[in-house]
Amino acid sequence: MATIPGSAGLPLIGDKSYEFYKDPVKFVNKYMQQYKSRLFIARFLNKPTVFIGSNSAVHEILADSESCMDLGYKQFMEEIYGDNILFTDGDAAFNLRSALLQLFNEDSLKTYQDTVDKIVDKKLMQPNFEEQCCIYEVMKRLCTEICLSLFLDVDFENAEDMAKTIVNLTTTHWHGIISVPIAIKLPLTDGSTYNKALHAKEQLLKIIHCKKKAAEDKFPQKIQEIPHGGEEMFSNNHLLLFTSALVPKALSSLLTSFVIEVAQTQGDSDIQDRIQTDTELMNSYLLEVQRLYPPFLGGRRIMKEDVMVNGYKIPKGHAVLYVTYSAHRDPKAFTDPGDFKPERWNNSNANDQDKLLCFGSGPRGCIGQTLVWNIIQTVIKKLFQRFHIKLQEGQDLNRKMLPVSRPKNNVLAEFTPRIPH
Ligand code: HEM
Repeated sequence: MATIPGSAGLPLIGDKSYEFYKDPVKFVNKYMQQYKSRLFIARFLNKPTVFIGSNSAVHEILADSESCMDLGYKQFMEEIYGDNILFTDGDAAFNLRSALLQLFNEDSLKTYQDTVDKIVDKKLMQPNFEEQCCIYEVMKRLCTEICLSLFLDVDFENAEDMAKTIVNLTTTHWHGIISVPIAIKLPLTDGSTYNKALHAKEQLLKIIHCKKKAAEDKFPQKIQEIPHGGEEMFSNNHLLLFTSALVPKALSSLLTSFVIEVAQTQGDSDIQDRIQTDTELMNSYLLEVQRLYPPFLGGRRIMKEDVMVNGYKIPKGHAVLYVTYSAHRDPKAFTDPGDFKPERWNNSNANDQDKLLCFGSGPRGCIGQTLVWNIIQTVIKKLFQRFHIKLQEGQDLNRKMLPVSRPKNNVLAEFTPRIPH
C-alpha cells in the first residue's frame, strides 16, 4: 500500500494553516508539484489533513460508498448557524435530506420561478444599470433580493426599510461566518465581529419566527409542512441557512464569472447575441464557468474509519480537504485544463458532467443545485436579451478563492441597452 506523500508535521509548529490561508491555490499547487502527486498530507488547523486535487479521488471521497466519513463543518460553524443538516451525519442526515428535498422537487421549483422572473425583470429595468457598474456588486444585489424574497418572503418593493434591515443583518451574520463549506477559521474576524454576528443571528431568528406565522403560502410556510417542519429548530435553522448571505454570494460568483467570460468575446459579439436564445451555447459556457471558477474552493470530511482512496490508506481521525478547484484542473480529467474552452462540453467532455464538483456530488451533494441552475439561466437570458456588455479595458481579472471565489478587485462593465425604453 502506498504512503501518502507529505508530512502531518508536529502539533502546532508543523501547522501549515497560515501558508494555506495566504494563498490557497499557490499552497495546493506547490505541494502537488513538490510531491508529484495530486494527493498529499499536511498539518492543517492542527489536524493531519489529506489534501486531494485529483478528480477521481475527490469523486471517491464524495461518494463515500462505505459511509465512513462525517462532514467536517460542525466544529467551525455550528454556533453561528445553529443545528442543521450540514452538521448532521448518518441516518439522521439522510432523513433531514429527504424532507428538505421536497422543497426543491420539480413541482416546488415551478412555484418559485414567477418570483425569480419578476425580480430579474424589475432589477434589469432600473436606470442605474446603464452606467459603468461593478459586475459582482450588480449580481450580488440581484441575487440577494432573489434569495430573501424566495426563502423569507421579504417584500423589497413595499417594505423597503424592512428589507434593508434584513439585508444588513445577513451581512453582519455573514461576517461572523468563517468559510463555508471549506470550513476554515479565517483570521479575519475579531471577537466583537463574532458577537455582532451572533446578535444578528438572534434578530434574524425573530424575523423568521414572524414570517412563519404569516398567513401566506410561501417558503416559510411550506417548510413547516414537510416532515420535521413542525419542529421549531428544524424550520428556523434551515431558514437561517437558506437566507444566509453565503447563497447569494455563491450565485453572484458564478454569474460574475459567466458575464466576464462572455463579455470578453468582444471580437465575436455574435456570442452575446446568441447566448440568450442558444441554450446549448449557454450551457456549455455555464459548465466551463463551473469548472474553472467554482464558488467554493472545496470542502471537508473527517474519517470515521480507515479509508482507501486511490490506493492510499487515509487513517481514522484524519481530515480530508477535497479541493474542487484542483480536481477541475486535473489533466487526467480535462485536456488543456487551464484554458476556458466551452466547446469541450460538446466534444471531448460531452459526457463528463459528473466530473464537475461545484455542487459536490453523491449522498451529500447540494440540494439547491437545480434551483441555482434555474436562477442563473433566468438571469443570463434576460440580461443578454436586454444588454450588450462591454468590460472596461485593462482591468485586473484575477480572483480570490476565499471565502467565496470572486474577482479580487471590482471588475467594471458598461451595460448598453439593446432595445431603447
Ligand atoms: C451557487 C450556489 C451554490 C453552490 C455553489 C452550492 C454548493 C454546495 C456544495 C459544494 C455542497 C456540498 C458540500 C459537501 O459535500 O462538502 C452543498 C451542499 C448543500 N447545499 Fe448547496 N450550493 C449552492 C446553493 C444552494 C442553495 C440555493 C441551497 C438551498 C436553498 C443549497 C443547499 C444545500 C444544502 C442543504 C447542502 C447540504 C446537503 C447535505 O448535507 O446533505 N445550496 N452545496
